[in-house]
Amino acid sequence: NPLNGARFVLAAHEITQLPYDQGAEVAFAGRSNAGKSSALNALTGHNGLARTSKTPGRTQLMVVFDLPPLKGEGATPIDTRLVDLPGYGYAKVPEAMRQHWRGEIDAYLKMRRSLRGIVLIVDIRHELKDFDRTMLEFCAATELPCHVLMTKADKVSRGQASAALEALRKDFRKNGVPGTAQIFSSTAKTGVEEARARILELLAT
Ligand code: GTP
Ligand code: MG
Repeated sequence: NPLNGARFVLAAHEITQLPYDQGAEVAFAGRSNAGKSSALNALTGHNGLARTSKTPGRTQLMVVFDLPPLKGEGATPIDTRLVDLPGYGYAKVPEAMRQHWRGEIDAYLKMRRSLRGIVLIVDIRHELKDFDRTMLEFCAATELPCHVLMTKADKVSRGQASAALEALRKDFRKNGVPGTAQIFSSTAKTGVEEARARILELLAT
């Protein structure tokens, strides 16, 4: 598991503080409390790498993790990173902070040249929310690949999980969303291998 080599680099309050924009990175986005940080921990196999919390809105920073360099074409290694984005949609975050992050995330998505794809974390028990839709539309419009982890699958039956995945895929087809999706659980480690493979694929593009 190459993601196992992940290590914390920095936490940024502004995109100007991010590492130099070269190599390849994949960003984790999703509503507050959806389970972004937990998914990062499950995927890297490090408990406590990304801080998780029962209190939504915990990660109000962009947290950057380095991965071991990928072998590129020829001999040149490619620097690779994972980025944990601040959760959106949490009511108790002050309006000024929300506006700040709306601007920063928007700029990050538009300008970050090393960004290879988004891992969008959604709670499998809930419908897509406005911000999830906005993110998917943005990805479609800019041809940025998006992979959806329908997480907390341990909270529903297998049948319910498959039904939710089918519904999401149908929704994608209907709305022309080019994203991919899978069932996931950080607690039960469901779908971890599939997600790792998808992330490595994105980093290698
Ligand atoms: P913010 O950083 O606040 O935006 O939240 P986040 O999206 O990073 O969520 P986080 O990973 O901190 O998880 C939020 C809560 O959901 C915690 O109480 C986790 O333990 C719980 N949780 C996350 N993933 C799972 C999962 O797969 N199954 C279950 N049962 N609980 C989960
Ligand atoms: Mg978090």
